[in-house]
Amino acid sequence: MKINGIPYRTIWPDPVATGLVRIIDQRPLPHRFVVEEIRSVRAMAEAIREMHVRGAPLIGAAAAWGMALAIQPSGPDGAGDWLIRLKDAARELESTRPTAVNQAWAVERMLAVGRACASSEQARVRLREEAQRICDEDVAACAAIGRHGLRLIQEIAARKGGAPVNVLTHCNAGWLACVDHGTATAPIYAAHNAGLPVHVWVDETRPRNQGAKLTAWELGEHGVPHTLIPDNAGGHLMQHGLVDLCLVGADRVTRQGDAANKIGTYLKALAAADNGVPFYVALPASTIDWSRRDGVREIPIESRGEEEVRFMEGLAPDGEVRTVRICPENTRGANYGFDVTPARLLTGLITERGLCPAAAAGLLALFPERDPGATIA
Ligand code: MRU
Repeated sequence: MKINGIPYRTIWPDPVATGLVRIIDQRPLPHRFVVEEIRSVRAMAEAIREMHVRGAPLIGAAAAWGMALAIQPSGPDGAGDWLIRLKDAARELESTRPTAVNQAWAVERMLAVGRACASSEQARVRLREEAQRICDEDVAACAAIGRHGLRLIQEIAARKGGAPVNVLTHCNAGWLACVDHGTATAPIYAAHNAGLPVHVWVDETRPRNQGAKLTAWELGEHGVPHTLIPDNAGGHLMQHGLVDLCLVGADRVTRQGDAANKIGTYLKALAAADNGVPFYVALPASTIDWSRRDGVREIPIESRGEEEVRFMEGLAPDGEVRTVRICPENTRGANYGFDVTPARLLTGLITERGLCPAAAAGLLALFPERDPGATIA
């Protein structure tokens, strides 16, 4: 995506210095655009944990680059056996955020490449190549999600005869949450780029306000018409025919199609089901956890600090970013980061291989290599 006419990804390696990776630090957005330099596993783990980078696919890409950094000779991660350093890095990176499955997926992939290497010199090169491949594959997957999801918006646009298609989205499943394009926003960008009239209802997404801060900024930079709404407004909008389609991302989708996403997604899906509004989850294959079935019982839900609920940050009239407490001093906060929407509430899934019902049969039809009973030619 372009910022002030300059194309950016959310994460990229220095073309010369092998021990240096750059990320867009998402915390100061939308008020300031900051690029941060990451030189160690510890710094990358911190960037994931403290949400300098966030969003499941980007967490995966960041973990992959963290693994590559672990064994660069110029890095500060210490000498010693490179495979041990790699395994230590895997442990540190995997424990950063528990709900998104992408970092475990990326770390396992990087470990497998490392284990197959004969020397540290070979591993240094191969791990950098693999991290870059993970990033490039994510970009391609998101672009494909955009192409497949576009069909849904085209169909609604045709029915509405030129009136804007109103899409509701939650949190930020945009290009900032991935390496580029986004998952839920990819069909929206594709529709906008194709000249279809599309308007987005952007849930603010308390407590960290990824919708207000990131999705609204992204859509604005790309010129997509959008309106910020409080998290509780979606049900009312749906009752009054003001939402044609709900499109969200996911942090982990089980093999039966249950989807963990930012807290509040489940309530939107309930409202959508009650009002006959199609509700789709967009995700790359790296977000599918084939080892789990019942998402409500089996997906670990991240619990974050209560200060994220008790305090809010914003731009004061004097141009300074300030943090204010929004509750009495002694009020405690509970901060569950995600919830699980059962497959039965989803109209379907949008993956890089196409659309499918949120069900084991639907996913296996798109990913037959994951069917334990199938013989693949
Ligand atoms: O806590 P976050 O900001 O990492 O949560 C992000 C989300 O819930 C996204 O919707 C999800 O990761 C999908 S991103 C394409």
